Amino acid sequence: MTGLELDNISVWLNGQQILYDVSMSIKKGECVALLGPSGCGKTTTLRTIAGFIHPQSGDVRVAGKSCIGLAPNKRNMGLVFQDYALFPHMTVAQNVAYGLRMRKQTGPESDKLVKQFLEMVQLDHVGDRLPENLSGGQKQRVALARALVIKPDILLLDEPLGALDRKLRDQMQVELKQLQKQLGVTTIIVTHDQEEALSLADRVAVMFSGAIWEIGSPQALYDMPRHRDVMDFLGGSNLFNCCVTDVDDENATLSGPGGFQTVLKRGDLTLNEDVLVGIRPEHLSISIPNEADADKAPTLRGLVHETVYKGTLMEILIKTHDDHMFRASVSPRSISQAQITSGNPISLVLEKDYIRVFKS
Ligand SMILES: Nc1ncnc2c1ncn2[C@@H]1O[C@H](COP(=O)(O)OP(=O)(O)OP(=O)(O)O)[C@@H](O)[C@H]1O
Ligand SMILES: [Mg+2]
Repeated sequence: MTGLELDNISVWLNGQQILYDVSMSIKKGECVALLGPSGCGKTTTLRTIAGFIHPQSGDVRVAGKSCIGLAPNKRNMGLVFQDYALFPHMTVAQNVAYGLRMRKQTGPESDKLVKQFLEMVQLDHVGDRLPENLSGGQKQRVALARALVIKPDILLLDEPLGALDRKLRDQMQVELKQLQKQLGVTTIIVTHDQEEALSLADRVAVMFSGAIWEIGSPQALYDMPRHRDVMDFLGGSNLFNCCVTDVDDENATLSGPGGFQTVLKRGDLTLNEDVLVGIRPEHLSISIPNEADADKAPTLRGLVHETVYKGTLMEILIKTHDDHMFRASVSPRSISQAQITSGNPISLVLEKDYIRVFKS
């Protein structure tokens, strides 16, 4: 069943178009991450769904019903913003009870719900405190409890973990995911942290310049992006120009920097066409030059430019003779120190299944 539908939403603010035909269909109980660079329109999308911005065209439907004419407080949506927006003069429990009070729910039933949701976010012991006496993570949980206590149809989270340090953020990501699944609430989480999007969401929507470019499962989007910008935005990538140097009925040969050459399914590639090729750093491995390449995996050659040790992996920058820089992420245990001394010649083997070809 559909939980939330955005149907060709366009938004202008102060005479400027901010959203361009944004469409998305989210299943009931699904969690979608909206990911994209600063200023691409993520918050505007959320505010439009919540009813704070009126779109010039398009429709927002919850469970199949349009809510375009409805005021924000009539939409039964829970919101959490980056700065949490807690009421400073209210206690934690009063903050959580706020949404219920607005819906004229007071008395023992309301008290019970507040207690239940404070327990759910493990804050029942600080119900009497003011927000100023809470840590960042605790404030975040209060905001979450306040959004959830009204049993919203839709939960909208705008960079909810943005203000937390890395460790707390990792912990809250797990808690948030468990809570979202436990309550089965249809959720959109806005983030510009691609790792957060990939780990939290059932599907990820990548947005650029006011439009959704791609939407899919985290793995499909990461491994098989259809646009070079999506590949580039979502994790590390090597993107380089190649030319189609040979074709037959089935295959095309691509040639590029550092002596790179590979034969791939031809598709709609034509002879002498310029294309952009992408591969992620973790799909490059290193080998010693001139080693017999029995499996004919595509390789390219260069010199070790720099190595960066990152604990669980080693990042190696390789510069080809024609001045292209490639980045490989390898396990430090898989290589000998001697191989990766700066200035040493090195070969990179590309995992063929993960090579992406983008038409220019
Ligand atoms: N009231 C407004 N009037 C005019 N332009 C606006 C208004 N509000 C936002 N914008 C513009 O709309 C664009 C999208 O803004 P939005 O806040 O949705 O971006 P965002 O993706 O949430 O960015 P961030 O990651 O920085 O929060 C930006 O270029 C912004 O300057
Ligand atoms: Mg924003």
